[in-house]
Amino acid sequence: MTPALHEVNRPIVRVFQTAEMASNAVADLIEQRMLARPAITLGLATGATPRLVYRKLVERAGAPSWRHLRCFNLDEYVGLAAHHPASFAHYMRELLFDHVDIATARTHIPDGMAPDLDAAAETYEQLIAESGGIDLQLLGIGRNGHIGFNEPGSSHDSRTREVQLALSTIDANRPDFPEGEEPPATALTMGIGTILDAREIVLLATGSAKAEALAAMLEGPISLDCPASALQRHGAVTVFCDKAAAANLNFEQLDMRGSAHAAA
Ligand code: GLP
Repeated sequence: MTPALHEVNRPIVRVFQTAEMASNAVADLIEQRMLARPAITLGLATGATPRLVYRKLVERAGAPSWRHLRCFNLDEYVGLAAHHPASFAHYMRELLFDHVDIATARTHIPDGMAPDLDAAAETYEQLIAESGGIDLQLLGIGRNGHIGFNEPGSSHDSRTREVQLALSTIDANRPDFPEGEEPPATALTMGIGTILDAREIVLLATGSAKAEALAAMLEGPISLDCPASALQRHGAVTVFCDKAAAANLNFEQLDMRGSAHAAA
C-alpha cells in the first residue's frame, strides 16, 4: 500500500501527498476486499473524485474478477435517461462497467426515470437488503458536506428517496451537462441511514475545494448541517485524502479524539 503522510484513528484518516496516491490506495483497498470476498457487495459513487480510482481498477481488471460481486450506486438524477451523457448510469458504464467482467444485471443504479419514484426508492432498498447489505461503500464529499445527494438538513436516518438538490450542488455539477442544458433539480439518492448500514465505508476527498467540508465532517459536531458528520457515528470509516483536502485538519485534536474513542 502507498505510504500515507499522516494517519489518525476513528475515523481513520490517511493523508497522501497527491490525489493520485490517495486514489491508488483506495483502489488497493477495494481490490483487497474483492480478493477476500469475491461475492462482495460494493456501494459506488460518481463525481470527479473517484474517476482515478475507477481508472486504476480498470487498468488492473481481471484479477480480481468482478464476476461474482454486486454493486449499488449511491444516486441518480431524476429525469435523465441512462444514455444521457450526464447520467450516473452513463458515467458508470464509461468509467467502469464496460471495462470489467460484470454482468449488467449485477449493477444497480436508482431509476431516476421511474414513473413512481417512491416505489423505485423502496425497490432499491429492498434490492440492497436482498443482496445481504453493502459490504464496502465508496463515497466522495460535496463542498457543502453532502454525501450521495443528501444535502444539509437531511435526516441521518434517511433512506433512499427523491431529494431536492442545493443550488451549489447543481452549479458544481453543471459542467457535466451539455452547454445550455439545465441540470435536474432533484435526484434519487440512498439516504444517510442507508449509507450508515454499510459494513465499511471509504471516503475519498481530494483538492482544496474539499478542505472545509472535510474539517467540518471530522472535527465539527455531528449535525444535520454537515451530512458527512453522520459518519462519525460509524465504526469502520476510512478517509483517504490528499494534502490539499487535509489542509484544514487539526491532527492533534483528531488524535486525541481517536484515543478517547479507543478508551471508550
Ligand atoms: C455529487 C455526487 C456525490 C459526490 C459529490 C462530489 O453531487 N452525488 O456522490 O461525492 O457530488 O463530487 P465531486 O467528486 O465531483 O466533487
